[in-house]
Amino acid sequence: MIELTKKSATSPANIAFIKYWGKKNSKLNIPYNNSISMNLDSCLTTTTVHFMDNLKEDEVVIDCKKVEGEARNRVVRILDIVRTWAKIKTKAKVSSINNFPSDAGVASSASAFSALALAASSSAGLKLSKKKLSILARLGSGSASRSVISGFSEWKKGSTTNDSYAVQIEKPSYWDLRDIVTIVSSEKKEKSSTEGHGAALTSPYFKERQKELISRTNNLKKAFLRKDIDTFGKLLEEETLDLHLIAMTSKPPIFYLNSTTFAVMQVLRELRVKGIKGYYTMDAGPNVHIICRQKDVDIINKTIKRVPGVKSTIINKARVGTRFSNNHLF
Ligand code: PMV
Repeated sequence: MIELTKKSATSPANIAFIKYWGKKNSKLNIPYNNSISMNLDSCLTTTTVHFMDNLKEDEVVIDCKKVEGEARNRVVRILDIVRTWAKIKTKAKVSSINNFPSDAGVASSASAFSALALAASSSAGLKLSKKKLSILARLGSGSASRSVISGFSEWKKGSTTNDSYAVQIEKPSYWDLRDIVTIVSSEKKEKSSTEGHGAALTSPYFKERQKELISRTNNLKKAFLRKDIDTFGKLLEEETLDLHLIAMTSKPPIFYLNSTTFAVMQVLRELRVKGIKGYYTMDAGPNVHIICRQKDVDIINKTIKRVPGVKSTIINKARVGTRFSNNHLF
């Protein structure tokens, strides 16, 4: 007899150094390429799940509001997989909060689905390995597969649902990299990343990107392992420009960046001339993730906050991935 208990989990968002953009299988979120990321210790989601006999249907609450429609369906899909794996039919109550403003434009699907994967599977009595947890999180949102892992991770693309999951490249303390998340817009983006993934294949440059990625991924990983900030930063920027080139040449085109994004990129280039090394990377939105070493955080943060259009910054380091929490939300 499986014991159904209330469980909570906390999980970080992550920033991709090498991006996942384009799905080989859009139902199973299987990507075209491996991706590499660092998790973000200041951008966390906490989720509580309880499978309860008295519920007639699944109840999903996000940031204290009951949700319906597509947002609820995505959560129910994960609950359904957990029910199949645990061989139960019981409905669940789910509640989730982010410690960063959900309108900050920082992707919360990675932290949300990885926290959900751990809370839901353990509430259903399952004890999943890291690999299985990463697979379950991936089925909710591809990038969530990487949040499960502590520190720096690589999502191996695989070719089936059972071999597409993330593994650790290095633990959090390996390199003192920081991500200064620079909020330049808190508006909901025009096109979701799901739409962007779908459109990516219509870009005439998508195939070229895939060819290029083989050496870029290898070289970025090598530069990371030898803590070579110059080479690492150059490849990081090359990669994000490539993603946005694909987005802008998709049919119809998608523009995620705004004028403040470009202003921040310019200031980073100016700081580098003075030997202060911060490098930009942007996901499917205009906010800039500035990757730098601990010693340069304060000066970069101070300078960036003065750029007109910058609303706020959140400083992150790499830390532990998805873990249990005692902070039950109900
Ligand atoms: O996990 P999704 O479907 O939200 O896609 C994330 C896509 C990017 O954030 C742009 C890149 C990445 O690898 O995180």
